[in-house]
Amino acid sequence: MLIARRKATIELAFTPNHLVCQSGLRSLSQFTHNKDRQMTKANRMAAKEMNCESRVLTLALRLFAVGLVMGGAIWALQPRDSLAEEITLYKNASCMCCKRWANLLRGKGYEVVERDVDDLDSIKAQFNVGQKYQGCHTALIGGYVIEGHVPIKEIDRLLRERPDAKGLSVPGMPVGSPGMEMPGRKPDSFNVILMKKDGSSEVYARY
Ligand code: CU
Ligand code: CU
Repeated sequence: MLIARRKATIELAFTPNHLVCQSGLRSLSQFTHNKDRQMTKANRMAAKEMNCESRVLTLALRLFAVGLVMGGAIWALQPRDSLAEEITLYKNASCMCCKRWANLLRGKGYEVVERDVDDLDSIKAQFNVGQKYQGCHTALIGGYVIEGHVPIKEIDRLLRERPDAKGLSVPGMPVGSPGMEMPGRKPDSFNVILMKKDGSSEVYARY
């Protein structure tokens, strides 16, 4: 009886503990579970955020790529001052007006290869530039001969229109033509000549 009561007491003494422990465990497990769920939720949110971020990044990259393509297309379609073409320029090393003309071409995006030669006459003979068309330098671009201080605008036009001709010429060295600017001196009026393959010519532009 006493033992039983003691046992009961013991049991009673333990039971609350046990209960506390159980509920404690339960609440702990619940807490852990909740925490796990919270963690999972946090992870999921982080994953979602990362996913979202990567999606935004992908979208940005795509937009950038589209922008590049469209920009390229617009750039390609836009009329330009000049074409980035290579022009070979035969000139005398000491000629400064040739140098100035070359730099004007460079300023318009042309790539100028300067060839200093002593005998320009043989170059003019080689490319069939008659005496009356001759200037101080001879240049080659896109299958055409450019003789003398031809305005770059006309070279652009020549390459755009591509007439069946030998090339362009500004005979002599008119004052005020590109590379022949002389401050304080009244510019000459001059013609840009379209040299034909048969040796004839026509006026291409007047300045
Ligand atoms: Cu010159
Ligand atoms: Cu020159």
